[in-house]
Amino acid sequence: MRIAVTGCNGKIGRAVTARLREDGHDVVGFDVDGARGAGFTRVDLRDYGQTLDALLGVTFRHDGIDALVHLAAIPVNGLVPDATTFHHNMAVTFNVLHGAHRAGITRIVYASSINAMGFPFEEPPPYLPLDEGYTAANNTYGLGKAMEETMAGQLVRWEPELSITALRFTNVVGEDDYGSFTRAGELDYRRDLLGSYVDARDAALAVALSLEKGAPGFEVYAVAASDTGLTIPSAELAAAWFPGVPVRKELGEFETLLSIDKAAERLGYVPQHLWRER
Ligand SMILES: NC(=O)c1ccc[n+]([C@@H]2O[C@H](COP(=O)([O-])OP(=O)(O)OC[C@H]3O[C@@H](n4cnc5c(N)ncnc54)[C@H](O)[C@@H]3O)[C@@H](O)[C@H]2O)c1
Repeated sequence: MRIAVTGCNGKIGRAVTARLREDGHDVVGFDVDGARGAGFTRVDLRDYGQTLDALLGVTFRHDGIDALVHLAAIPVNGLVPDATTFHHNMAVTFNVLHGAHRAGITRIVYASSINAMGFPFEEPPPYLPLDEGYTAANNTYGLGKAMEETMAGQLVRWEPELSITALRFTNVVGEDDYGSFTRAGELDYRRDLLGSYVDARDAALAVALSLEKGAPGFEVYAVAASDTGLTIPSAELAAAWFPGVPVRKELGEFETLLSIDKAAERLGYVPQHLWRER
């Protein structure tokens, strides 16, 4: 397939682009930032004209896209003013999803976030392991992610063939980020993430599987590693962090508290890169 990847030069974008190319796909990268080269076109996705034109065709790059992976965003609060985070991400995601609809692209996978499901969990989650059934936004970045999911859920009603998959990634760990796991024995390490993490290559695996298996309609999946980032057993973490919150299953010793059961069952997602196996 020829696949457009927005945000191709970011942390997840680089892993996704590498993975999809390894799988034999023709990847056309769109990013506002990056060095000139084959397979990359500079696009500012805040501009609908640029976005639509780039999706329809780019001379010397492509004459039509089969599928789209949308990862471009301001990826956290704090980098720019809070309102700017919201305005930027909402405009970009509208432009990309609506532009793709106009361009007739019917297979889309995009990045949502644990920020749409309660991060940083100052209020306890309603149950553990927490799954996609719960939506809660506590900052403007998360608010954007929650609203983008609402938008995607409506857009698929406009085109019966359209498949949109939202992947609620937890904190994505690249090769350079593993140093923080020296804190794995500390009770407050990753509490705001329910203890979770995901290797960038497993984030890319979830994207690849979603492109392959996405059916018409809109689906949301939480994406994490199958274990926590801590050396304290998961049942102890749940009891210490969120006393009284129901734990709905018998937990494996270090089993993730951010459920990946839906992704495992429907996409065949099995994370391959666990920090404790390095
Ligand atoms: N990294 C994480 O832990 C994490 C967790 C959950 C969700 N996410 C989401 O995953 C996606 C990718 O995140 P990331 O960590 O790779 O972020 P990143 O900042 O490393 O990459 C984002 C890329 O998007 C590009 N971009 C931003 N605005 C753009 C615009 N207007 N036009 C074109 N390109 C633009 C940037 O130049 C950058 O290369 C984002 O939607 C983010 O919200 C990330």
